[in-house]
Amino acid sequence: MSLYSAKVMDHFRNPRNVGVIEDPDGVGEVGNAKCGDIMKMYIKVENGILVDVKFETFGCGSAIASSSMATEMIKGKTLQEALLLTNQAVAEALDGLPAYKMHCSVLAEEAVQAAIRNYYETHGIPYDEKDFPALNHGHGEEDGDGE
Ligand code: FES
Repeated sequence: MSLYSAKVMDHFRNPRNVGVIEDPDGVGEVGNAKCGDIMKMYIKVENGILVDVKFETFGCGSAIASSSMATEMIKGKTLQEALLLTNQAVAEALDGLPAYKMHCSVLAEEAVQAAIRNYYETHGIPYDEKDFPALNHGHGEEDGDGE
């Protein structure tokens, strides 16, 4: 019996939206310090809609499948809708991930939020840090010394 669902294997073998957007409106790069995997997300925005999304993931199969699924889930959506994408929703859309692989789906949530925040920053659009919960989490973990 496979640890991974058919959907995970499909998105790992045939990832959607792989690559680079030349001249993107926003780019987000995130990584997991423990496993060393890195995910980069490129977005193209028109009238508040994500008209194109691409990614490059240097990481495990679950990270590749998660980023592929995340791009499919946010493409064509508004920025506000995309910011509501959670790693749980990505994992559910993949018919689940093993518990010890859930952190791979977290990278996808973080990468989407990082790309959108970069879009706001580079276009001088004011934003609220509260709209980027995944990124604020990440900082907390990095700063924490586990006392
Ligand atoms: Fe680190 Fe999957 S093992 S992202």
